[in-house]
Parts: sequence; C-alpha cells; structure tokens
Amino acid sequence: MTDAAGSDNQLFDKIVNLSKRRGFVFQSADIYGGFRSTYDYGPLGVLLLRNVKEQWWRSMVQLRHDVVGLDASVLSPPQVWQASGHLANFSDPLVDCVSCNARHRLDKLDDPNVCPTCGATGSFTEAREFNLMFKTHAGPVMETAAEVYLRPETAQGMFINFSNVLVTSRKRPPFGIAQIGKSFRNEITPGNFVFRTREFEQMEMEYFVPPEESQHWYEYWCQQRMDWYLDLGMPSDQLRLRAHDDDELSHYSSGTSDVEFLFPWGWDELEGVANRGDFDLRQHAEHSGERLDYFDQATGERYVPHVIEPAAGATRAAMAFLMAAYAEEEVNDEVRTVLRLDPRLAPYKVAVLPLSKKDTLTPTAMQVFDLLKGQWMTDYDETQSIGKRYARQDEIGTPYCVTVDFDTLEDASVTVRNRDTREQDRVAIAGLLAYLEPRLR
Ligand code: GAP
Repeated sequence: MTDAAGSDNQLFDKIVNLSKRRGFVFQSADIYGGFRSTYDYGPLGVLLLRNVKEQWWRSMVQLRHDVVGLDASVLSPPQVWQASGHLANFSDPLVDCVSCNARHRLDKLDDPNVCPTCGATGSFTEAREFNLMFKTHAGPVMETAAEVYLRPETAQGMFINFSNVLVTSRKRPPFGIAQIGKSFRNEITPGNFVFRTREFEQMEMEYFVPPEESQHWYEYWCQQRMDWYLDLGMPSDQLRLRAHDDDELSHYSSGTSDVEFLFPWGWDELEGVANRGDFDLRQHAEHSGERLDYFDQATGERYVPHVIEPAAGATRAAMAFLMAAYAEEEVNDEVRTVLRLDPRLAPYKVAVLPLSKKDTLTPTAMQVFDLLKGQWMTDYDETQSIGKRYARQDEIGTPYCVTVDFDTLEDASVTVRNRDTREQDRVAIAGLLAYLEPRLR
C-alpha cells in the first residue's frame, strides 16, 4: 500500500495520469497541442479546487470576527507595482546555455556552471534579471501611458484598499483582509504539473497589527496555517514549517516561514507566512500621497500597522491534497486505488448507484438523488457493474456510495458503502440525511 506521497517515485506520474483520466486537470488548449504551463480544471478538479478555497475562506474569514474579505481587480496600473517594489525587484536571474539554447533560473541550478539539459560546462551566458510580471495595454492604444500589469500576487489589492476597508468595516488592529483570486507570473521554469504555472490561484490574508505585537502574530499564524492543513487530513510526517535563511527573504520581508509539503521530488513550498513589517503601507502612502495608518482613539497614538501575511496557493494546495490522499491497496488480489480525501475536500460527497439499469430502479434512485443533491454534491451513475462503479468512486475520493437495489422497492432502504472501510450499512431512505450528515462534516 502506498500512503506516503514521498515514498513512491511513480506517484507523480500516477497523479498526472489520474487527473487527466478522471477529469481533475487537463492541459490547457489540449486540442491545439497544449499551451505550456497552463491547465484547465475539469469536472472533478473544479469541485476539489472550490472545496480547498471554501475551507480556507471558512477558516480565515467565516469563523473569525477579525478578518474581512475582498475581491480586488487583476489589472492594475504601474504605480501599484512601482510602490510595492515589484517593478524593481520581482525578477529571477535568467541564463541561456549557448550549447543547447536551454533557459534556466540560475538560483535553481544544482551547479551554476553545468547545464542540466545538455551537461555542458561553462556554457551559460551572463545572468540577466528577468521581471516576472505580465504587462499588457488598457484600451486600444499600444503606448507606454496605457501599460498595465496582471497582478503577480493578490496581496497588493489588500494594501491599496487598507483605508477603504478600515473605514467601512470599522475594524481595528489586529484585523485582517483576505482574498482568493488569480495571479500571474511569467515564470522562467514552470513545471511539476500545476505546482509552478504562469496562471494560478492564491489565497492570501494581510493581518494588520500594532508593531510591538508583530512577532506574536507571526508565530500565531505559522501555527494556525500548519493546523489548517493537518485538520484537512495532511499527514504530519509530510508537512513541516521551515524558516527562511536571510538570503532567501523577499524584498519586503523581515521574517518568513514556509509551510512545506513532501512532494514526490522532495520538500517544497505550499505556503509562505511572512512578517512584512510596515513596508507595504509606507510605500503606498509615500507613492500615493494618502495617509495609510491607524489612529488609536483609546491611546491617542497614531501608527503604521505591521503586517503578517499567510500566502497560500490554492492550485498548489489542491495538488498536494491529491498526492497526500492517493493510496493503493490490495483487495482480493486486485489493486484498489483510493483517494482518501477528507470529506470536506472530496469533489462528490455521495454517489447514488442503482444496482441495475432496469427502469424499475431508476425512479427510486432519482428520488434518492433529489433528496441528497440539495445538501451535498452528489453523483449519479448507472453505467457498468456495481463493482466497477465502486472502484470509480473510490478513485475519485467519494466518501459514500448509496446503492438502490430491488429490496429498496420493498423496504424503502438503501445500502451505504464507506469508501475507506468498504463496510456497508442498510439505512432507511427516511433516515439517510441524518445518517450522512455527521459523517460528511
Ligand atoms: N504575497 C506573497 C506571495 O505572493 P509567494 O510565496 O510568492 O508569496 C504565495 O506566493 C504562494 O502562492 C506560494 O506559496 C505558492 O503556493 C503560490 N504560488 C506562487 N507562485 C506560484 C506559481 N507560479 N504557480 C503556482 N502557485 C504559485
């Protein structure tokens, strides 16, 4: 049985294969040969991704009195990125191999003198700083004055709306602004499936605190974010918190820790928790001329809040949850693939399966589907043998299968099968919601 993502070198291929075969993730523009490093989320992937984002929102916004939400624009003018430092600093060192023309990020090479593509030594050009932001033009005129950028992080939306949110929400530090949305980076070396792409989704929260409390809240959010992944079923031996060395810190950060997952290629970043200090608010105040601070009426003190930022990738987290959940086990001399996803993340919570395709069962099975669909994402499948349908639902992580059989017509009960234990209970249709409700929380 394979439970640990890091212990199986074929796991990566299996996840990519499963993603395509079952409809989690497709290569974008597939019919045109594929558009490199961009992906489309299929019928199951969109559900998984929505569930990841929903769980993040629930924990970061809904269950808290001190965090509010935001949905800021993707397009923004250069002034934002001038102030944030992204125009000057958001770049990676790029080298070209003159022997094979491959491009690499210098800071990611095992040996800065050896090309990993062709093995040539000393074949690299001088490193050039390559800015990762996508630039485009607003309106019909392609002139410099019309240049705008696709945001490379959602965070700046929170900083430039600091005053708007402060005034309208009547919050006071410590308080946070949270946002989920697309970000874009012209990555030099996208790869590892959806791990590093040029278009991706982030889940970020900026938590504004009195300066003297910043260390406390930094540690608090590191712990909160670790607990979120663990609570949703990530095994503790595949998750760790790693503090950045000084030379790894971003231009804005005075301290960052990464939540790392043990991917098949080794430990890698899922999320960063950064102490951004007062860098962003000060920069935007200086560049915009607006006052971005907080006046504490109780103490009569005015100060620029410091910011603690847990910044996660939704698409990256969805992939990590898939990897952590993937398992193979031998049942009756056959290999069963099962995604042991937490029910809160599973694309479908329940599948309704009439035992046979005979018309006699369909109306009752549809009634059961109608009973469940208002409460949970419910699949309905009447093709192939019941064994094959169970296998399919196991492989996509559906926690419960509800089978409608010929006895159902007599006793108004169904068989409920548990994905993980494969145990079956006979449950009255009238009690089905009450049976599933505590199990799917
Ligand atoms: N506002 C801070 C910030 O954006 P980051 O570490 O650059 O920090 C946060 O990004 C998270 O966004 C990362 O931990 C990762 O999960 C996700 N992310 C960043 N670049 C990505 C990419 N090219 N593809 C997929 N996810 C990415």
